Amino acid sequence: MERELALEFARVTESAALAAACWVGKGNKEAADEAAVTAMRVMFDTVSVDGIVVIGEGEMDEAPMLYIGEKVGIGVPPEVDIAVDPVEGTNNVAGGREGAIAVLAVAPRGTLLNAPDMYMNKIAVGSECKGRVFLDAPVKENLRQVAKALGKLISEVTVVILDRPRHYEMIEEIRRSGARIKLILDGDVSPAVAAAYANSGVDIVMGIGGAPEGVITAAALKCLGGDFQARLCPEDDNEITRCHQMGIADLDKILTLDELVKSDDVIFVATGITDSFLLKEVRYYKRRAITQTIVMRSTSGTIRHIEAHHDLDRKPLFRDNRINLKFD
Ligand code: FBP
Repeated sequence: MERELALEFARVTESAALAAACWVGKGNKEAADEAAVTAMRVMFDTVSVDGIVVIGEGEMDEAPMLYIGEKVGIGVPPEVDIAVDPVEGTNNVAGGREGAIAVLAVAPRGTLLNAPDMYMNKIAVGSECKGRVFLDAPVKENLRQVAKALGKLISEVTVVILDRPRHYEMIEEIRRSGARIKLILDGDVSPAVAAAYANSGVDIVMGIGGAPEGVITAAALKCLGGDFQARLCPEDDNEITRCHQMGIADLDKILTLDELVKSDDVIFVATGITDSFLLKEVRYYKRRAITQTIVMRSTSGTIRHIEAHHDLDRKPLFRDNRINLKFD
């Protein structure tokens, strides 16, 4: 994939973040998502790819836009798989809380795991810890390895985990090991990506979250040289069938980074909606908005932070109020 593409995709997540940001704290996660989806979909029409959404807003019959299988881009090579999450952390936006981003990952056709909307058990770390932590290892042992790799005491290691009853036992184990914990209400992609950044305030992310978010996280960690292991957690026969349809016969199988993202040519882009471990929120002054976006390409290993100042009156999408009709 050409390097110029990365910037084209940055415009896509910027638009989604700008659209969703108008809904921060307004208690309406559906409207925030709808605005971001619409903005993202419109911007995709400008991107020079022949793309297929492999992780998106749902199946064709349940999502009007960015559904799985939808073609996006202007239809010229390269042929790519696209994983999108226009608002990762919809509750965070609705509640005016930290941790929401607009995010996408792109890889050559057929190389992103088409993970259905089910749970996934995950563990994410940065490059220093690669090969030292294992999904099935005891929590204490993983944390000991992280501390050793990062040259810290266990009491200085920070674990991020979703605050859910399903994690209470794991949270107790982390506490017993002596590590620090940051409990989050929603949005496990940004901390998992941040775990691969030095001094981000996150050393490891553990626990069960969404499988689509897991594939998107894996794309970023591939660019950053971090590590990620996962196991799908189907909850009923329907979900088990979905796993089999994806070619995953052994449900106990641990999925590696290379199985989740089969290519070494990956682009990951995210824009902050609210503040997160990774990015600053959308900020407004006069009729301008500032966005912070991170763009990564695995082939070059380059990571760009783009701060963009948008003149909202000159952006057709926002000037004509096409996105936030229900708001103004
Ligand atoms: P949204 O789809 O509302 O943005 O939720 C995101 C999220 O918090 C993910 O970050 C996480 O992986 C998953 O939901 C957790 O699911 P659950 O809320 O069912 O525990």
